[in-house]
Amino acid sequence: MRSSTVSLIVISLFLASGCEQSTVVLPEATKTPTISTTTLVPSGAPTLTRLEIAQATIDAKQTTSDETSALLEDGLRVESPNKANEVVFGLVDGVPYYGVNHNGQPVILPSKMGFTFLEAAPLNSGLTIADWEESTFDEIWTQPWGEAKEIRDHHNELRIRLSEVSDKPRELIIVFRVFDDGIGFRYEFPEQPNLKDFQIMDEQTQFAMAGDYDSWWIPAYQENRYEYLYTTSPLSFISREVLSGVHTPFTMLTDDGLFLSIHEAALVNYASMTLRADENLVLKADLVPWSDGTKVKGSTPLKTPWRTIQIVENAGDLITSYLILNLNEPNALGDISWVKPGKYIGIWWGMHIGKWTWGRGPNHGATTANARAYLNFAAENGFDGVLVEGWNLGWDGDWTANGDQFDFTTPYSDFDLEGLAVYAQAHGTRLIGHHETGAAVTNYESQMEAAFALYQRLGISTVKTGYVGWGQGIKRYDENGKLVGMEWHHGQYMVEHHQRVIETAAKYGIMINGHEPIKDTGLRRTYPNFMTREGARGQEYNAWDDNPPDHVTILPFTRLLAGPMDYTPGVLALDFPEYRSNRVDHTLAKELALYVVIYSPLQMAADLIENYENNPAFQFILDVPADWHETRVLHAQIGDFITTVRRERDGDEWFLGSITDENPRLLESTLEFLTPGVTYVAEIYADGDGAHYINNAYALEISRVLVDSTTLLKLNLAPGGGQAIRFYPASQEEIDLLPAYQP
Ligand code: NOJ
Ligand code: CA
Repeated sequence: MRSSTVSLIVISLFLASGCEQSTVVLPEATKTPTISTTTLVPSGAPTLTRLEIAQATIDAKQTTSDETSALLEDGLRVESPNKANEVVFGLVDGVPYYGVNHNGQPVILPSKMGFTFLEAAPLNSGLTIADWEESTFDEIWTQPWGEAKEIRDHHNELRIRLSEVSDKPRELIIVFRVFDDGIGFRYEFPEQPNLKDFQIMDEQTQFAMAGDYDSWWIPAYQENRYEYLYTTSPLSFISREVLSGVHTPFTMLTDDGLFLSIHEAALVNYASMTLRADENLVLKADLVPWSDGTKVKGSTPLKTPWRTIQIVENAGDLITSYLILNLNEPNALGDISWVKPGKYIGIWWGMHIGKWTWGRGPNHGATTANARAYLNFAAENGFDGVLVEGWNLGWDGDWTANGDQFDFTTPYSDFDLEGLAVYAQAHGTRLIGHHETGAAVTNYESQMEAAFALYQRLGISTVKTGYVGWGQGIKRYDENGKLVGMEWHHGQYMVEHHQRVIETAAKYGIMINGHEPIKDTGLRRTYPNFMTREGARGQEYNAWDDNPPDHVTILPFTRLLAGPMDYTPGVLALDFPEYRSNRVDHTLAKELALYVVIYSPLQMAADLIENYENNPAFQFILDVPADWHETRVLHAQIGDFITTVRRERDGDEWFLGSITDENPRLLESTLEFLTPGVTYVAEIYADGDGAHYINNAYALEISRVLVDSTTLLKLNLAPGGGQAIRFYPASQEEIDLLPAYQP
């Protein structure tokens, strides 16, 4: 049963519209903001400015929901360039509130903002609007690498300076940016006499949802960080059952068919935001605390990360929304010609399935001989690098508990690091470095400079990092080496650690692929060497646990909204009975399609190299790029299916990936993305007759046919199946030889 603010509003909506939530709580968007003084200004009073109205307080001891809404009706407003999205901001009894409308319908009901501090009064009431300004921004910027080359940042901004009514007033700035695909807002604590060092105990930002929406989420504050299967549930389930709250990106589907996703952008010098839901369906920011209970230790000037709400009408538009990148700062690294996307293989899957070990012993994976074999294979097949895990001292025994034993500059005696690095480059490829820390951050930081310097000297330009460790288990020491606290992977302590890593790596010309990472908030724009990360259940789970077939049909609409993921697709030996009884719950064609569906600028071909030899499916992995010019989503139903097409960077080739969950699908689309009038060859990797992820996963049909932009493509996906297609302009010979596409 919902009560207070939300219930009053929703009841009145239901009465007015016969159970359809169609009438408005916040007012309809107006083209030019107008001033309505009727509810606020006594007759005879001078006409107030918008500013005065926005900060007026109503004469009521306790503000009701209707009054809050009414006040916001006269608040400051800012619309998106296309006028679809609108933010309204106002003070109610000195308390800051914002609300969000989409096409005049409420998306976020009036929601509180503010902070509480340790040893300082809260900054959440007793405020006035000192001044405000609006501005418009429209620019196209180029990604050095990415899922799209050019990105348009077109938004309107409302910047409001709040001041306390006090003899020692403090100031807080709130900035809203409103885009056609959603909104972002952040707080700024400017430099000021009455606020210097502070400790935030709570960020009180609310997201008051207007209905009991369906949502896709993983729980926060768990042992296994972000590595959980997604649950689909109404918001009310979270408020009842998930007291720990949920991680972001947190994606919802409203009763009106809008897709919303709450996340954050530019997470630096702050704690990660998780969300808790109360019984009124108000989501509240819950910053991951330090071990001492404080949330953020800061000093002015400080800007919080942006709180982002993507708002789109089709699920696929979540994926092609670049709002989070747009809210990050431009490249801070200067010359980044050394930053290059690419594909890699690795001495990796062998450890996960039990063929090899990370630690020393008869089955040690990281031997000079194994590495040479992988480097040869990489060189022959044009891979950019070979990841080798288990190469350095520290892996013997339980490395997850003894991360402080890792030595990042000393290889095991059976691994000739220096010789292999030279060998790799002589063959036109490279080693990829690996820094598994076991979440022993202090040990890693003490060696980080030397470790990156070593790799730089050896021409190793990509490093995969790892932070395997459980729950609130990261040891924090003071400057005297005394243990002072146990930290979460997502608190400010780790945000700052990852920032030091990315900056130090940049100093040594090194790109980072982070596993068990801090969540992505679009910082790749500012630090383009922050290539990709894990931060979800990836392929490794198929070696020793199980990702059900729908998992990868949810990831693009949740985890992937934050940024690229090193999922590590391309396991073509879908079962591996010689080593384990686990299996990959996909068909072969679906495993190929993941190269297009799951974006990563460093894309792994994860299988053992012997499983690629003489395998016709491998050709698609060789052909598919890891860097793109543009991306489109043709079909999208979260948790059911998705079809993505991407054009290679600066080229004519298109690639399509389509995947389904455990259900078969027949999806259709024309190929309007192809250049009209041009005939293309489509190399199709489709589920074969009777394909099924459980008992006929290898059934694959490869064909080469002619298509053009008017062709109607029919994607026949098996249970747990998929389809992968490469399109390239046909030569005259191919036009003469190949048949036209027959659905
Ligand atoms: C977990 C990572 O996700 C995985 O890729 C890696 O092989 C192991 N940790 C060991 O570092
Ligand atoms: Ca992992």
